[in-house]
Order: sequence, then C-alpha cells, then structure tokens
Amino acid sequence: MDVSPIKLQLVQENCRRLGISIVKAMALDAIRPLPFPSGSFDGCLVDTPCSGLGTLRRHPEGKWRIKEQDILRLQEMQGQILRQAAPLIREGGILVYSTCTLTQEENEGVVEAFLSANKEFSLENAADLLPKACEALVEAKGYLRTLPHRHNMDGFFAARMRKK
Ligand SMILES: C[S@@+](CC[C@H](N)C(=O)[O-])C[C@H]1O[C@@H](n2cnc3c(N)ncnc32)[C@H](O)[C@@H]1O
Repeated sequence: MDVSPIKLQLVQENCRRLGISIVKAMALDAIRPLPFPSGSFDGCLVDTPCSGLGTLRRHPEGKWRIKEQDILRLQEMQGQILRQAAPLIREGGILVYSTCTLTQEENEGVVEAFLSANKEFSLENAADLLPKACEALVEAKGYLRTLPHRHNMDGFFAARMRKK
C-alpha cells in the first residue's frame, strides 16, 4: 500500500521484472481506516514516511529542507498509520515499524507511545532474529538502529512488535 501512484508503479515494474506475481500493489491512504477485516494479516511492515535524516550522506539537502515542525507533523502521521495497521494484525501476528531517520521523536517516541496505548502489543528483540553479525546494530531494548558515523551506512531504525 502506498498513497503515491508513482511508488506503486515502481513496485509493479520491479515485480514484473523479477517474475513476482504474489504482490498486490494498492493505492490507499494509511492514515485512514483501511478496507480489510480485523485480524486479516499475519504481519505488517509499516515502512513509514519520515524525515529521512538517516540518508543525509546521499541527500545532504535534507539539512535545509527538514524543519523542527516537520518532525512533529511526521510523528503524528506515523502514530496514525501504526494505529490503522494494528487492528489488521491477527492474534500472535507481527507488526514491524521502520524509518530511515535518526530522530527520537519519529523512532522510539512513536513506538513507545503506540505500545503504551496498545497493551495487546509487546516489543520483541530484533537480535533474536538477525544474524550474529548484526548484534552490534541492536540496542538493549531490542530496537534495530544503524548510525552513519558509527556503522558506515544509512541511519535506519526498526522495532518488531507482536500482538498477544
Ligand atoms: C519509506 S517510504 C516506503 C518505501 C517502500 N517500503 C518501498 O520500498 O518502496 C514511505 C512511503 O510512504 C508513502 N506514504 C506517505 N504518506 C502515506 C499515507 N498517508 N498512506 C500510505 N502511504 C503513504 C510515501 O509515498 C512513501 O512511498
């Protein structure tokens, strides 16, 4: 699902090129109620729109483009998208939240607010699933976080939650 037809077209082109036929690309606005029955998905990846500050090495103009108020606007939107996704996950299913940014507000800020309002979800430790070589990228709480200056790659954040 994506709100942008251009993004969906790219997904469809890639699927065609790779011979993948199981992907159904749908134009939907994820801040609004989604047209699926509750509990209809085993898992959902919310690869959310974000300030993208983890990609400054490749997009240095972000330093001038992103304003403080953008972070708060995005944080609100990210929380809304997670809230729309949550009821669609079946019991025992997985919800992964990810961004390519570094701000606390858009990362653990969104996840912690979501978890305290949605007690049926609990955080899982990403280290339990990733190869041993990735251990250094997982923090004590179980969040996956990459940092450009430390790991020599884009900044990225992910949290894996399970519905009880
Ligand atoms: C980090 S990107 C996800 C990229 C995607 N995982 C991919 O590999 O192409 C965030 C995406 O969210 C989309 N988006 C922004 N607002 C949205 C909304 N309200 N509902 C659904 N998608 C939205 C953007 O168009 C953008 O493609």
